[in-house]
Amino acid sequence: MEKLVFYGFNHQHIPPSFIIHPEKRPRKLDLPVVYHNTPIIDLKDCVDGALDRSATIQQIFKAIEEFGFFQLVNDGVHEELMEEAMEVSKEFFEMPVEDRLSLYCEDPMHPVRVSSSIVYENEEVHYWRDKLRHLCHPVEEFKHLWPSKPTKYREVIAAYSVKVRALALKLLELICEGLGLQPDYFNGELSQMQSILINHYPPSPDPSLTLGLPKHIDPNVITILLQGDSYGFQVLKDGEWIDVKPLPNTHLVVLGHQLQIISNEKLKGVEHRVVSTNVSRTTIAMQIHPSMDCVVEPAKEVIDEGNPAKYRSFTYQEFVDSYLTSVIDTQKSTKPFKILA
Ligand code: OGA
Ligand code: NI
Repeated sequence: MEKLVFYGFNHQHIPPSFIIHPEKRPRKLDLPVVYHNTPIIDLKDCVDGALDRSATIQQIFKAIEEFGFFQLVNDGVHEELMEEAMEVSKEFFEMPVEDRLSLYCEDPMHPVRVSSSIVYENEEVHYWRDKLRHLCHPVEEFKHLWPSKPTKYREVIAAYSVKVRALALKLLELICEGLGLQPDYFNGELSQMQSILINHYPPSPDPSLTLGLPKHIDPNVITILLQGDSYGFQVLKDGEWIDVKPLPNTHLVVLGHQLQIISNEKLKGVEHRVVSTNVSRTTIAMQIHPSMDCVVEPAKEVIDEGNPAKYRSFTYQEFVDSYLTSVIDTQKSTKPFKILA
């Protein structure tokens, strides 16, 4: 079991299979972190009753166009609930290893699993990350399979999953309005599956040699990320990696491959990665996915003769299979679904 970062590694040195290729290494991390002025969107007019939705929709589209992501304030999820969710997530990774091992599983499709890196078996290089991932919609269907420790885990994560799902569907509704789609376009199979991914990045003995996560776009529709108050998340903007300021109790939103495809690239997913640091970092990514057999394709409303479909129809299962085997290489994983001009 030496493959698990959290298990049996002497953290004073980095096993060779975790050392990132020189070209893909992060920039020198002894330089001070400079935060850009990145978009923050206030949802207060949109969560309880709709006041000025169109201004918010414009802000979302501008943020996606310029930066590929945005952070939220007044998004309807109570700060206390965010804090509790972060607390049980950190506690999960602070428990003795034996308490996590019973959930260890290598099958990426398993509904509840603890694992390491991305797809350990397919990778040449491994990433300095452990994860707990499980399905969480409908909550009642999966809750009994979730970790039973920490004792508050199920109760807190159930409440958090429901709240963040409502937020994600609200954002999708606003995005539909901006794209000219029916507001409920995503309400059925396209948002049927929801997973929570708790990422734990242990301190790295040398953060310039390891990466928490390599450059990727999320495979799903939309991701709502809670990154706590620790630094590590970067997005690729105009060919440069920019550091994103962690704002406490603030959700960060990135669009995934499916939204890019459904919008026929009117909206793009952003390439992002996680750099290692010398402190421990825990994040919670709530991801909305289509059901596995859902057929995904560019929406009829966004294509016409002048703007033909850039992707063929496929099932989400096909996409996930391709994504996992190409170890999240953005070009490789979308290629089988592209219609070449
Ligand atoms: C992810 C991801 C970012 C982070 O889980 O897909 O990009 O900061 N996480 O953990
Ligand atoms: Ni991601």
